[in-house]
Amino acid sequence: MKTQVGIIGGGPSGLLLSQLLHMQGIDTVVLEKRSREYVLGRIRAGVLEHGFANLMREANCGVRMDAEGEIHDGFDIAYDGVRNHVDLKGLTGGNSVIVYGQTELTRDLYEAREKMGGAVIHHAENVQPHDMTSDSPYLTYTKDGEAQRIDCDYIIGADGFHGVSRKSIPKDKIREFERVYPFGWLGVLLNTKPVSPELIYAKHERGFALCSLRSQTLSRYYIQVPLSGSVEDWSDDDFWGELKRRLPADVSAQLETGPSIEKSIAPLRSFVAEPMRHGNMFLAGDAAHIVPPTGARGLNSAASDIYYLYHAMLDHYKKGDDTGLENYSQKALARVWKGQRFSWWMTTLLHQFPENSDFDNKLQQIDLEYLFSSESAMKSLAENYVGLPF
Ligand code: APR
Ligand code: PHB
Repeated sequence: MKTQVGIIGGGPSGLLLSQLLHMQGIDTVVLEKRSREYVLGRIRAGVLEHGFANLMREANCGVRMDAEGEIHDGFDIAYDGVRNHVDLKGLTGGNSVIVYGQTELTRDLYEAREKMGGAVIHHAENVQPHDMTSDSPYLTYTKDGEAQRIDCDYIIGADGFHGVSRKSIPKDKIREFERVYPFGWLGVLLNTKPVSPELIYAKHERGFALCSLRSQTLSRYYIQVPLSGSVEDWSDDDFWGELKRRLPADVSAQLETGPSIEKSIAPLRSFVAEPMRHGNMFLAGDAAHIVPPTGARGLNSAASDIYYLYHAMLDHYKKGDDTGLENYSQKALARVWKGQRFSWWMTTLLHQFPENSDFDNKLQQIDLEYLFSSESAMKSLAENYVGLPF
């Protein structure tokens, strides 16, 4: 088989790029290891920047997002039992975010790919990129027990943190930066009315908590937990008890609990691989970088990679101009690192760190007090949360 752009990974990054390129007449094939149902079964993030939403609209995938997604003009940070409002709209001069689950967004992308007859190959096993530094790179994989090969102009590694693309780059050609946090997030999804129409991030001496949502009938809650335990250690009742202890009393009093429909623990990690290019293979999304979820940057950082890659590919195929491809890694990383800084900062601000000294804890407290007392500090938080320009 032959294609122009061979994409490894059928998550949001790979699907969005494939859809955008196909709409411009550029041929792509997406190789996804798992089934569509498995990919759609993963509960992930749910806060979109408008830049991302515009890209979804450009990809002809914005109809359901615009109908069912919620515009959020702000959120709260609870500290010492008090809710402090972050007025995103006021602080950014009119900007906001859209709450729309990654599961729904991925479903829209799959449906759009199907409608256009896009090639998305599921259950592609042992995917391997070859000859990445040559002018004729290719992919091999196994499907239904048979060995397959796809020749392409470019390979896109959009196969997530555990994918094969980044790992196929020789160790001396890539540098990795990493911070692993000494805790995780225990998340619960349930069919109840969210406790607040907007998100509440809560800092508490027992640990961080977050009240989030997917819609006005689907709630998502998280608490910071040690990594030593497992999800089986937490009954629904244990979870609700702990969440309530960490939220301001007026919020806890209004919390509608119920049976969870999903419960899982996610470790928190900051990670960047540089450069995001090896010859004619380009990395995008989680394959190249991971953030802790605190600043809602993960999915949005992936989207900005796709924005740069899409435009670089258009310039190459439509104008014969390779400047975008040459500059991709540098340009994408500049924005990625700003998202890293913000996610690290918000994580550091709001969590309990078991190894912290009294001095560290005092600084954390002062950082929060400064934030709530300074419009400049709040503006900085808001402009990062809604997403810096592409
Ligand atoms: N071969 C083929 N496909 C693979 C391989 C492989 N060796 N390894 C992983 N994949 C697939 C995974 O099954 C997954 O569907 O690649 C896809 C990668 O998707 P994601 O992990 O969702 O990564 P990405 O598309 O970059 O999405 C952006 O940012 O913070 C996050 O939650 C956010 O998952 C979202 C991500
Ligand atoms: C979520 O709803 O899953 C969510 C929202 C905001 C975050 C992280 C996760 O910062």
